[in-house]
Amino acid sequence: MSNPRHFTSLLDLSGDEFRQIIQRASALKNHRDPNYQPLKGQVLAMIFEKSSTRTRISFEAGMAHFGGSAIFLSPRDTQLGRGEPVQDSAKVISSMVDCIMLRTDKHETVTTFAQHSSVPVINGLTDLQHPCQLLADMQTYFEYRGDIKGKTVAWIGDGNNMCHSYIHAAMLLDFTLHIASPEGYHPLPEILAAAGDRVRLFDNPVAAAQNAHLCVTDVWASMGQEEEQKQREIAFKGFQVNSEVMAAAHTDALFMHCLPAHRGEEVTAAVIDGPQSVIFAEAENRLHAQKALLEFLLCTK
Ligand code: CP
Ligand code: NVA
Repeated sequence: MSNPRHFTSLLDLSGDEFRQIIQRASALKNHRDPNYQPLKGQVLAMIFEKSSTRTRISFEAGMAHFGGSAIFLSPRDTQLGRGEPVQDSAKVISSMVDCIMLRTDKHETVTTFAQHSSVPVINGLTDLQHPCQLLADMQTYFEYRGDIKGKTVAWIGDGNNMCHSYIHAAMLLDFTLHIASPEGYHPLPEILAAAGDRVRLFDNPVAAAQNAHLCVTDVWASMGQEEEQKQREIAFKGFQVNSEVMAAAHTDALFMHCLPAHRGEEVTAAVIDGPQSVIFAEAENRLHAQKALLEFLLCTK
C-alpha cells in the first residue's frame, strides 16, 4: 500500500467515518455471512507488550471470520524484545503482512511504527489511548439507546488511556463529557484543551453523573502501574461508581467498563452486575467493531 490508512487514535477518523464503522459493526453482528470473506488470505500481525484477553481474541476471531489469519507476537519471542529498532521492525513486518496491531507501553512506539509501516497500523492500547475500545463502547450505546449526539457521558476515575479516548469520542460524536478524577490523576491538559467546552471537569462523582446518559469507569491502576496500587486505592477512595452515583444519573443511564474490572474498587458489584450494566454486550462488540475497522482499513478503496 502506498499510503496506508492507520488507526493509531480515534482522531484518525472523521465523525462520519466513526458513525459509518459503528453502523457497519452492528450490521456485521446482526447478519453474519460465513461466505463473506473479504480478507481471504490476508494476515494480521499482533504485537502485544502487555496482557490481553478481549483484544487478542476479538482480532484473531475477526480475521478468521473474514477468511484471513492472525499471528500473535510478544516481545519476549521476537527481536523487538532484544532491542531491534522499531523503525526496522515496522519495515520488515509490514513487508510480510497486510495489517499490524500493536499494544504497547509507550504511545510513540505505535506512532513510530505507523510512520515506517507500508500497511495499516492499529492501536490496540497504549499508555495514552485505547481507541478500539471506544468503537465497541459507542456501538453498544447506539444499539441500546440510539445516537449519542447531544447526550451526556460521565467518566468517573483515572484520567487514563480510556479517558483520553472518551475525550476524543466526545469531539467526534458531539456529546458532553463530565470527568471526575482525583487531584493528580486528571487527563492530560493538551488532550483536554483540544476538546474545548465539550468536556467538563468535576471533583465529585455524584455531581459529574448528574443526568448522565452513560456512566463509565476503569481500573484505578492500569497495566504497568501495579506497584502504585496501594497509593492509588487511597487517592481514588470516593471515586467509585456505586448506587448513589447511578441514582444521580438519568433513569435510563447505562453503565460501561472496558474490563477487566475490580469489583469493590472502581465499581460496586451491585452496579456492574446490575440492570443498567451492559459490560458483556460491550465486550462482545469488540469483535464486531474491529471487524468493521479491519474492513474499513483494508477494503475501502
Ligand atoms: N478491554 C480490553 O482491552 O481488554 P483486554 O485487555 O482483555 O484486551
Ligand atoms: N486502563 C486499562 C485498560 C485495560 C483494557 C489499562 O491500560 O490497563
